[in-house]
Amino acid sequence: MNTVAPPIALAKLAHQALARGKMALSLAHKNALQRVLSTIRPSNRSAPTIEPQVFEVLQQRIEALVDQDWRDGEAGVYPVELLFDDPWLDYLLTYPLLCLDSFMVWDRSQTGKVYDFNKSVNIKDYPGYYARNFHNQTDGYLSDNSARLYDLQVEILFSGVADAMRRRVLAPLKGGLVGMGRSPKILDIACGTGRALRNIQAALPDASLFGIDLSPHYLRRANENLRTLPNTLPQLVQGNAESLPYTDGYFQGITNVFLFHELPGRARQRIINESYRVLAPGGVCIICDSIQQDDVPVVTPMLQYFPESFHEPFYMDYQKDDMDGRMKDAGFDIVEHQTHFLSKYWVLKKPG
Ligand SMILES: C[S@@+](CC[C@H](N)C(=O)[O-])C[C@H]1O[C@@H](n2cnc3c(N)ncnc32)[C@H](O)[C@@H]1O
Repeated sequence: MNTVAPPIALAKLAHQALARGKMALSLAHKNALQRVLSTIRPSNRSAPTIEPQVFEVLQQRIEALVDQDWRDGEAGVYPVELLFDDPWLDYLLTYPLLCLDSFMVWDRSQTGKVYDFNKSVNIKDYPGYYARNFHNQTDGYLSDNSARLYDLQVEILFSGVADAMRRRVLAPLKGGLVGMGRSPKILDIACGTGRALRNIQAALPDASLFGIDLSPHYLRRANENLRTLPNTLPQLVQGNAESLPYTDGYFQGITNVFLFHELPGRARQRIINESYRVLAPGGVCIICDSIQQDDVPVVTPMLQYFPESFHEPFYMDYQKDDMDGRMKDAGFDIVEHQTHFLSKYWVLKKPG
């Protein structure tokens, strides 16, 4: 008889229960907040309703993602402990601040004020496409407060599976690095608060990790999130990924999570070209971003609502963009596409 050792069976049950709990809490938060905000600050626009059949597909896709997350942990792509890595105390302390900030986020979504920056922020230091209130969030990406709220906001937005979506880069990354040496150098482009790097570190403890992001505030937060990890400290650099400050062929692996939908097409192409340049021949690059139009047709109408209500001005362009064409133009071989829940993945190789 095929028996499962009790601790692993228990861990599996705990993982499923945790995922369901996070889903329920996120949904409860979103519903309650919508009610409170639309009562206190009534809106002319009605919130879209998700059709039951769309809701069912979303539910199935979340369950498949959670299941895959478990299976990769069990198969040793990363330690199963990583599935329980949520910073709960931090989320608890951040939650009241997030609720308070929701009023300002709501006001921006109603008034369309999306260049709403504190005078201390020198927006001239940043590309024009960047210095805006993405997601209507206070200060855009340009304050410590925004960086503090970000991880919890994203977890709630994605019903508690944001990290599970990030972790889907790990199996193809690890697979692509086989034969590339014991301590590969890996760059996470647009590393934000460091969640992807944290996951990579758990999966590849001997790798040397690097992160680059335009926001000094998100990097400061990443530093806090990463400094207690064992092994090497990831090297974080503030800079524009359109012009990477590394020599040709320096990295064996590159990851890039949730960036491209926030860029105009020309910046997307430059970053893909730069990723190719700094990757060693035979190296692997994994890109994770939103699903594109028609990847999951039943949810396409829902995706139309996202850019408007969350201020994502380049999202519709990204949805229709020929990303494969851009990657091939840069020189990459496309090894594989995957989709998980609302994310799409490109597994790319630089020819050896
Ligand atoms: C949606 S967040 C994703 C962050 C992170 N990868 C994650 O998994 O949560 C987008 C990130 O891209 C960064 N970013 C946007 N444009 C950039 C650019 N041209 N160069 C470097 N970073 C950029 C932002 O500062 C922000 O941290």
